Amino acid sequence: MKILVTGGTGFIGSHTVVELQNKGYEVVIVDNLSNSRAETVNAIFGITGVKPLLEIFDLTDREKTLDFFMRHNNIRGVIHFAALKAVGESVEKPLEYYRNNIDSLINVLDGMRENNISNFVFSSSCTVYGQPDELPVSESAPIKKAESPYGNTKQIAEDIIFDAVEATPLKGIALRYFNPIGAHETALIGELPLGIPNNLVPFITQTAYGLREQLSVFGDDYNTPDGTAIRDYIHVVDLAKAHVVSVNRMIKSKMKRDFEIFNLGTGNGYSVLEAIKSFEKVTGKKLNYKIVARRDGDIEQVWADPTFSNNELGWKAEKGLDEMMVSAWKWELAYRQRSQEPRTKSQDKRP
Ligand code: UFG
Repeated sequence: MKILVTGGTGFIGSHTVVELQNKGYEVVIVDNLSNSRAETVNAIFGITGVKPLLEIFDLTDREKTLDFFMRHNNIRGVIHFAALKAVGESVEKPLEYYRNNIDSLINVLDGMRENNISNFVFSSSCTVYGQPDELPVSESAPIKKAESPYGNTKQIAEDIIFDAVEATPLKGIALRYFNPIGAHETALIGELPLGIPNNLVPFITQTAYGLREQLSVFGDDYNTPDGTAIRDYIHVVDLAKAHVVSVNRMIKSKMKRDFEIFNLGTGNGYSVLEAIKSFEKVTGKKLNYKIVARRDGDIEQVWADPTFSNNELGWKAEKGLDEMMVSAWKWELAYRQRSQEPRTKSQDKRP
């Protein structure tokens, strides 16, 4: 059964491709490589023994997108990750974010409609809740005004999918991610931000490795037990598995409604200082960090109520924070080591 994974060479996308292939799905990836590398398909081959097909083009190109769907008319479902995702950058370049994230979504949905493909899984975010009034936050919590154009693209996208589901045979599942971190246990795939990382865990691992001098902890005056902000960190492999479950649910016609929304989190919140302590504990490395001012746009605390996804999807995040930190560190070390090794002839022959 063939599944299209847009953005399949990215962080969450690549882990999802691995889990799909592990369950016997055939995967075709479309990616413009704007924030990822084509070699990721070799790493996926290294893990699963199967190299997914990769087509490199931009999904904002309507003609190319429709042509792709014409050529792959046996696709059973689409998981749509491809999007720009840097919150700060979206504030500086709102039009780029709206054009990229919304145009590509509409093109993909159009391609699906024209080829009678109805199963669509969308990569959404807990950012749609803003700072929730009640914690943990469940799927029925109100959607707050988005804090950034990035967050707004996720809200608008959910609305677009909802309307398309109402009007066409489309079925949609929106997965609202909390904070995905960690890497595959083989350390062959992981998070690889370009330039200076925005997110906490890549900044931690790069600082521990010596690529960054010091980690800044953004604010210790929040209304939380240790004053630093709280998030629900979820292992990327747990997150990836939820996508496979969602695809199965659609294909086996197990959906209760034509558009379903699920929180993907562990249900546990950890502060920035707790995340640092976990890293230090499992790696034995002391992190150089200092407390600085709050970062604009950050919320104080959010963690998921995963009850609905646990019960309905029969899925549960299994890995804890320590395990996430171990895998993130293993990936950082392995990646840095690999990028220093000169390429050998046998490596060049890899598929
Ligand atoms: N943090 C630091 N120092 C850093 C980086 C982050 O202290 O160098 C703190 C942040 O202030 C925040 C926590 O670590 O309190 C987590 O920050 P991340 O940047 O890792 O993650 P965010 O919660 O800000 O953002 C993530 C995703 C977004 C998504 C959002 C939804 O990166 O794409 O969750 O809440 F929209």
